Amino acid sequence: MLHDPNRVYVFDTTLRDGEQVPGCQLSTPEKIEIAIALEALGVDVIEAGFPISSPGDFQSVVELSKAVKEPTICALTRANTGDIDAAVAALKYAKHPRIHTGIGSSDMHIKYKFNSTREQILERAVAAVKYAKKFVEDIEFYAEDAGRADNAFLAQMIEAVIAAGATVVNIPDTNGYCLPDQYGSKILYLKENVKNIDQAIISVHCHNDLGLATANSLAGLVNGARQVECTINGIGERAGNTALEEVVMVLKTHHALGLNTNINTKHFSDISRMVSKMMRMPVQPNKAIIGQNAFAHSSGIHQDGFLKHRENYEIMNPEDVGINSADIILTARSGRHALKHHLERLGYEIERINLDQIYERFLVMADGKTTAITDDDILFLMTDGKEESYKNGYKLNLLQVLCGDPLTPTASIRLEHNGVEKEAMASGNGPVNATINAIQSIVGTDILLKEFTIQAVQGGSDDVSKVNIKISHEGKSYVGHGFSTDIVKASAHAYLDAMNKFM
Ligand code: KIV
Ligand code: ZN
Repeated sequence: MLHDPNRVYVFDTTLRDGEQVPGCQLSTPEKIEIAIALEALGVDVIEAGFPISSPGDFQSVVELSKAVKEPTICALTRANTGDIDAAVAALKYAKHPRIHTGIGSSDMHIKYKFNSTREQILERAVAAVKYAKKFVEDIEFYAEDAGRADNAFLAQMIEAVIAAGATVVNIPDTNGYCLPDQYGSKILYLKENVKNIDQAIISVHCHNDLGLATANSLAGLVNGARQVECTINGIGERAGNTALEEVVMVLKTHHALGLNTNINTKHFSDISRMVSKMMRMPVQPNKAIIGQNAFAHSSGIHQDGFLKHRENYEIMNPEDVGINSADIILTARSGRHALKHHLERLGYEIERINLDQIYERFLVMADGKTTAITDDDILFLMTDGKEESYKNGYKLNLLQVLCGDPLTPTASIRLEHNGVEKEAMASGNGPVNATINAIQSIVGTDILLKEFTIQAVQGGSDDVSKVNIKISHEGKSYVGHGFSTDIVKASAHAYLDAMNKFM
């Protein structure tokens, strides 16, 4: 296979090595959905399954071969004719089929797994490749447990399987044992000591038992491998496989490595969520690239630096991985700058509010919360009426409402503005309408109520209600929010909140 020397082929094994995880099994339609998403992502090879392992796996390889046309479809086998026959049959409809066959390469596996010798294993490896080559042109050979194999024997094995027709040679660190420099040196050793290595692509396949899968894969690529085997979200047996999104983003971020892939990284967030949901495998919040907190800044110092110049604390653009924007998480450690950022985002004009006062109340609220501050929390801060949110805004000092059957709803209200108190009384078709009419009669400006919604925050009859109001004044719209266990009071606060934005 001829290829651009800087191009790294991405071999996705989410549906084979990833799917081996207990509890992660997928139905064939689910696998097809993921395979279609992997095709859109731009992977070069999809390992669709291990056909001899079960009729379901066989069928999945058949159906994926029909559904996906651009990437190579690969089927796994052990080094025997039965496995290879099953893979050949399952790949019947694949436009670009590949058989992935192999055998143990470490002395540990040769002795204790195969009860065999190096010579016999070598023979079996060559025979399997030759047999598979009769049916399919593209043959990948894996030297299982290559991470712990003797390099000289590994080189001998790789040279023999390339001579037998292997187009790709996979050097798995099956047990996630290697250190990056050991694994990198192993790949370099093969580059330098396998005479026919230029006739095949070296593939890296690393497991994450020591948390080194991505580092090891990169060490392999830097030393000459040009295919990386990985899974979405790094799922896989035990501690998992190399995470596709990690290795691709390292190559994208570090241009100096001079390596590129065909991956459209903007799909990462969506495909990660799809795989996590279908495989019932939650993604840890601090997971690199696609974790919920991967672009969330929560400490005050970082937030301030980020808001001044995003590159201060951001090495990747969240949009590049399909996340709309970086998150500034509000906690008790956030500074004024972060709070101001969120107030502006929610439509508040900073010049018009007492930021210091709001910030003090924010800290009290944040100290009492174990989770991050939400938008509703901020709106509550701005409208709970304990303090003036607006420097020169109207403040509610008194509200009394009379209503029931057969009374005409009537509201008495006292508002303070610039230190001056004014009182009014008005009736209406209900208590909220009466309250708004009373406010209007004090303010005297032309205000049109355009939207009004009440929402119970938790759901019970003793719950805090949130009122959202939209008003218009001189052709412009303003929204306001109010919170209270009393819906009439919440409505008054929401109305004043909206009004104070232009008063
Ligand atoms: O980890 C491993 O060695 C494997 C092979 C079957 C390729 O998954
Ligand atoms: Zn594996």
